Amino acid sequence: MAPEVRRYMNLGELSAEAAALVAEWARESVARRGAFTLALSGGRSPQKLYERLSRSPYDVAIPWSQVHFFWGDERCVPPNDPASNFGMAARCLLCRLAPPPNHVHRPPAEVSPPDRAARLWEDDLRAFFGESGGFPRFDLVLLGVGEDGHTASLFPDSPALAEQSRWTAAVDGNRGKPPLPRLTLTLPVLNCARRVMFLVSGSGKAEVVRAILDDPEGAGRQYPAARVSAEERLIWLLDGGLL
Ligand code: 6PG
Repeated sequence: MAPEVRRYMNLGELSAEAAALVAEWARESVARRGAFTLALSGGRSPQKLYERLSRSPYDVAIPWSQVHFFWGDERCVPPNDPASNFGMAARCLLCRLAPPPNHVHRPPAEVSPPDRAARLWEDDLRAFFGESGGFPRFDLVLLGVGEDGHTASLFPDSPALAEQSRWTAAVDGNRGKPPLPRLTLTLPVLNCARRVMFLVSGSGKAEVVRAILDDPEGAGRQYPAARVSAEERLIWLLDGGLL
């Protein structure tokens, strides 16, 4: 699927547009299916979006009581660790919305070893989505891109990129920032999502993003983010300072 690309003057404008899209899709999913399944990304780029979603008008304009929160990846640390993606979302978004605990599907990243954590996480996802239809179908997966072309915690040359049946994987994360073991959704799960929205900010990513958007197929050999598609819509929101 060819990505839809939108450019913004700065991260504030990008986050404002992202919030409006999340609100539109949340209302649509709830109207059609009674729930909105949202996989959050980590890193710095989505933080302004999360803060915006937790405030007026979105605090009331989104049917939060029907939203289920998931994560595309997590660093293997306890939830209160400053490096936790769950912790970041809790501080920027969830603390103001106070969703019911059974709507917050946090990867159990504090469990050791990471392989066991990944299996427990997958069990939770299978219990929620059911096993009948193959891979789960998230209503929206939010993703970022690293300067090396990684997305979620799928790093270049990672064996997890070859996964074809598991929903989750543990990865060593040596190349991540911070360099911690990580848990990640696998490529087939990302690619089964109804919608995928990349939020990209940071001038160090210009070369990688240009390569991916110019020739996704060619770039896929080098950059995992280029291998992500979606069932209905694939959107890249770029901070204008980037390209
Ligand atoms: C993580 C991520 C990761 C992130 C990119 C971009 O846990 O680190 O989910 O894939 O989205 O590294 O991060 P920035 O937005 O901080 O550049």
